[in-house]
Amino acid sequence: MKNHASELKTHFDLVIFGGDGDLSFRKIYPALYYRLLENQISTEDRILALARNERTSEEFRTMLKTELGKHIEDLDDKIADDLLSIVTYYVVDIEKSKEENRIPKYFENTEDRVRAFYLATPASIFGQISSFLNELGLINDNSRVVLEKPLGTDLKSSEEINIKVAEYFQEKQIYRIDHYLGKETVQNLMVLRFANNIFERSWNAQEIDNIQITVAESLGVGTRGDFYDKYGALKDMVQNHLLQLLCLIAMEPPVTLDADQVRDEKLKVLKALRPFTKETITTNTVRGQYTRGKTKEGHLASYLEDINKYDSGTETFVALKTYIDNWRWGGVPIYLRTGKRMPHRFSEIVINFKHVPHNIFPEKKDIDNNKLTIRLQPEERIELQQMVKIPGPGGYRYKPFSLELDYADHFNDRFPDAYERLLMDVVRGNQTLFMRRDEVKASWEWIESILKNWKSEKVPNILYEAGTKGPGELVMNDETSWVKSRHVIKVQEKKDK
Ligand code: BG6
Repeated sequence: MKNHASELKTHFDLVIFGGDGDLSFRKIYPALYYRLLENQISTEDRILALARNERTSEEFRTMLKTELGKHIEDLDDKIADDLLSIVTYYVVDIEKSKEENRIPKYFENTEDRVRAFYLATPASIFGQISSFLNELGLINDNSRVVLEKPLGTDLKSSEEINIKVAEYFQEKQIYRIDHYLGKETVQNLMVLRFANNIFERSWNAQEIDNIQITVAESLGVGTRGDFYDKYGALKDMVQNHLLQLLCLIAMEPPVTLDADQVRDEKLKVLKALRPFTKETITTNTVRGQYTRGKTKEGHLASYLEDINKYDSGTETFVALKTYIDNWRWGGVPIYLRTGKRMPHRFSEIVINFKHVPHNIFPEKKDIDNNKLTIRLQPEERIELQQMVKIPGPGGYRYKPFSLELDYADHFNDRFPDAYERLLMDVVRGNQTLFMRRDEVKASWEWIESILKNWKSEKVPNILYEAGTKGPGELVMNDETSWVKSRHVIKVQEKKDK
């Protein structure tokens, strides 16, 4: 067991608004459990769960223990009990006055501890909670606030939330979470690019033909129908997760890992993204919604059945072709795709290098291009496709072959969940993996160019069966697989020429 506790200079109080919610039980408490298991936090630290439901701390702890059991394999009783021993539960009502809420007492004589407020609530009340904390006199120099995504439903509402929160917290105290940035494999993108010389030299428009980022999910919207229907795949996944992945792939090397230096570079990518117009919105975007489907396990409900409505224009699949208009990436198509109810869950980034300029081998007309595939989940793998000669006499016969680095073969440790890293960064005061306000604004500005044109050009959802590979088959007619549908926009463009 590693002893990290000494790394943290001070003890902390973590205050979770929405402390009995789904996110808290699935992600936040399990993350705290594992950090306790690894001695990175201790029983000197404190967790205050706040929610509106009437119950005592004791009742909450019993509930929490059951929840931990659901989300953690081989739960260690001793560690779970240690965690419970530092958890307090208070009923809180932000509409009520200072006197009616007991929180301030909890913080008496704790000025020197890190005080992190985690807002695991709808973003629409982030401003109100910040003002509530201010009224209670709980915001001090050691305070930080963690804002869960999605931050607003469009540029305007996201800016309103940011402005409101900024009345009470300085930017250096605000931690906007995008949990993709906490994933080990996503952080590895930085190492892959900036700790290896061979890639960086060919990481540009001269050598790269196109970049493809795909996040496919096999799940549907589950019990989050009401929430999801207000967002859709574009706002739920592209505005944050896919754009953050793109930033890490496309940004210039930052001078150091300093939070602002990294975020300055990411911001430049977002600002260079080419906005969509009424001409490109129909050729360079595809949106879809899943209908009923079946798998070997049985029938899958349609999106409308999942959200229990007769009608909805919300997309559960989106594919975009875009460009980063700068010197490094000028003219390189970038494909972003994400969808729910795909046959498999996987996230990957594919860098397709250009073909060799001239083929000296008569045996084959086209030589396959080199391809770097970075598989982020469920398994973590890096593959570099190259051409190799097939052994034997009789000329040069060759075929594509991949050099593979499978993480599981080389790293036996459990991969910590994104929230473990992110929570510890909040406590340590490291904002590198959190989105700065101007980044959020720039990504919403670009997303607005899609939303606006989808609306004005009445771009329809193409239906696809749940459990299939997306609406590609309908768009492309002759191509049926999700893998091939990744090229849907490209194929369309070739026809247009
Ligand atoms: C969340 C989205 O941010 O990310 C969900 O709101 C989505 O709709 C989830 O399912 C995907 O995260 P992961 O870590 O499972 O890829």
